[in-house]
Formats: sequence, C-alpha cells, structure tokens
Amino acid sequence: MAVELLFPRLVIFGASGPTGRHVVQQALKMGHVVSAVVRSPEKFDIKHEKLEVIKGDVFNSESLVTIMEGKDAVLSCLGAHGTSVFRHTTLYSESMKAISSAMEKNNLNRFVCVTSWGLDNDPAKGDYTVIEGQFVPDAAWYIPRADVGDFMLASLNTHDWDRKCVAIGRKN
Ligand SMILES: NC(=O)c1ccc[n+]([C@@H]2O[C@H](COP(=O)([O-])OP(=O)(O)OC[C@H]3O[C@@H](n4cnc5c(N)ncnc54)[C@H](OP(=O)(O)O)[C@@H]3O)[C@@H](O)[C@H]2O)c1
Repeated sequence: MAVELLFPRLVIFGASGPTGRHVVQQALKMGHVVSAVVRSPEKFDIKHEKLEVIKGDVFNSESLVTIMEGKDAVLSCLGAHGTSVFRHTTLYSESMKAISSAMEKNNLNRFVCVTSWGLDNDPAKGDYTVIEGQFVPDAAWYIPRADVGDFMLASLNTHDWDRKCVAIGRKN
C-alpha cells in the first residue's frame, strides 16, 4: 500500500548532481510530484510523467518564487566542487538566502538540505545512523549518496528531525 506523503509536491535544487539525481528518482518512485531545478535542462535526462525540469538560477530569489508556487517542500543537493580551506565558496550561503526568501514568500516551511562530505556511489545499504549534531562518532569515512538521499526523503515524512542539524554516517 502506498504511504500517504506529508509533502507530496517537491522542489529539488542540485537535481543534476549525483545525490540530486538519486533524490529525484527515489522521490518519483515514492509518488512525489517533482520540480527539478537545474542550470542546464538540456543535459538532464531523467523523464517521468510527474517530473518537470525547470531552468533556474539559485541566486535569484524572485525567479524562484514562481517555481515554488503550489509546492509543499524544498530539498537542496547543491554542491560546490574544488573548494578547500584556501578556496571558499559562497554557493551554499548565497543560494540559501535566495531559496529561503522565495520559500517565505510562498509560506513554505519545509526544507531539507545536504552539505556533506565523504560520499560514494555504492548502492544504498540502509545501515546508517542518524544523530543530532555534526558527526556520528566512530562512523566510516564514506556513506553512499543513495543512503543520504533516502534519508532526506524519509525525513519529510516524520517530524523527528524538524529544525535539526543532523549527521548521518555508517558505523565502522
Ligand atoms: N567535501 C567533500 O568531501 C564532499 C564530497 C562529496 C560531496 N560533498 C557534498 O555533498 C553534497 C552532494 O554532493 P554531490 O556529489 O551529490 O553533488 P555535487 O556534484 O557536489 O553537486 C553539484 C550540484 O550542484 C549544482 N551546482 C553547483 N554549482 C551551482 C551553481 N553555481 N548554481 C546552480 N547549481 C549549482 C550542480 O549543477 P550542474 O549539474 O549544473 O553543475 C549539481 O546539480 C554537496 O553539498 C557536496 O558539496 C562533499
């Protein structure tokens, strides 16, 4: 029997990245209606009757207001490459300003965002631990992107993680 979704209509940023692609595909499988916001729609090859692919600028709040109209929740799998302690990025901070402002204008208050490290492309294993805080003690160095994506979607259908910064990791 299909699970009743608390937040059926999703806007997904970073949908073209490896974690984002997994989240889009898994969300569609679960029955969500998905708006995937990407920079290059012509390169985005996932097709589904419940998926719309939208070209969007994550720094332009006004343009995001329309994209979010009528949606229930927003997820971000945005990620910056080539960053280090010497090469900072403002992708996360600046996109979050635009995204949260557009959400506010649409009275949307459900947001799940990943800012992670230590990911691999293995299939989901489902054996991860989630705790409130910044790291899981004694966790392995890597976790499949698929598990991270699965948790992001699972967190939409519970209030257990509301307003929390959580860490997710696989036990060694
Ligand atoms: N520190 C680490 O060791 C480490 C390792 C892996 C992942 N991560 C983090 O884990 C998360 C998920 O990573 P991932 O590997 O699945 O994805 P990723 O490859 O880091 O994600 C890239 C996504 O963000 C989008 N993006 C990047 N810059 C953008 C911009 N200026 N405007 C709009 N979209 C932009 C990309 O769009 P395009 O397709 O258009 O480029 C793509 O959809 C990210 O937060 C990532 O930083 C960290």
